[in-house]
Amino acid sequence: MANRSLVTISEHSRERIEYLIAMAQEFEKHPNRRILEGRIVATLFFEPSTRTRLSFETAANRLGAKVIGFADPKVTSGTKGETLKDTIMMVSNYADVIVMRHYLEGAAQYASEVSPKPIINAGDGANQHPSQTMLDLYSIYKTQGTLDDLNIYLVGDLKYGRTVHSLIAAMRHFNPTFHFIAPDELAMPDYYKMYCKENGIRYVEHKDFDASTIADADILYMTRVQRERFTDLEEYERVKDRYLLKKAMLARARDNMKILHPLPRVNEIEYSIDDTPYAYYFQQAQNGLYARQALICDVLGITLEDIRNDKMIIS
Ligand code: CP
Repeated sequence: MANRSLVTISEHSRERIEYLIAMAQEFEKHPNRRILEGRIVATLFFEPSTRTRLSFETAANRLGAKVIGFADPKVTSGTKGETLKDTIMMVSNYADVIVMRHYLEGAAQYASEVSPKPIINAGDGANQHPSQTMLDLYSIYKTQGTLDDLNIYLVGDLKYGRTVHSLIAAMRHFNPTFHFIAPDELAMPDYYKMYCKENGIRYVEHKDFDASTIADADILYMTRVQRERFTDLEEYERVKDRYLLKKAMLARARDNMKILHPLPRVNEIEYSIDDTPYAYYFQQAQNGLYARQALICDVLGITLEDIRNDKMIIS
């Protein structure tokens, strides 16, 4: 069934990304509006989350919508054997838009095909995390003043990291140079390297992670090694602490360089870095509120013009 779901960022054009950034800017100026009064937003989280769920719910609340949903699938009738399709059909009876995180790759695509209401993919397994990518793009734009011609270093779990997979797809319009830093066990999958080649995206692979390797980074995008994606926990133990960003490694960093991390962090960034001008991960998470306000409005067919003309600003 055709609707305005957001399943992947891969098909978004440069113009569409810039349009959504402009929307996010409007919401950053005035986050509290009643533009979704009378609407219901459902948040269905089949996997744990702090930021994504709470920022989507905050976004909905600040726009005057009401929120239903669950943060733990154990409290749902899925435990009695109800299928994902039936769950989506039921929730579609109640809500105007469904935000869903699921542990299976492709679950969001499937939900969008059976749902009469728009689905927003809040992360499907190791596949994609498009709303995270919108807030990452917004954060890059805010800190660099452009999305064009940047050196972007992706560090850590590049195999299972859905945020880095989505970011590569979205950045293809902006002539980036990517640098992939990961242990062999968590290297960028061939599929995404092939994607880079097919889309003319330059990339360099590194094993070293030190001050000289990252000296020309504009964006240093750290990721967590995700224990929950490993079938072999001994392998997880071997690789989990391999790439820790230490403050001393920033000695040669560019002035404009910003460190991003989708969070949660476990042992990837020394806490002493939090107070440096390079740390941007907490502001990045805040940007998620504005980016997600834009995405909820967009899938509901509310335009940038509607938002700019809206008179229901509360503060
Ligand atoms: N970045 C992110 O997806 O965080 P959560 O898992 O806390 O939602």
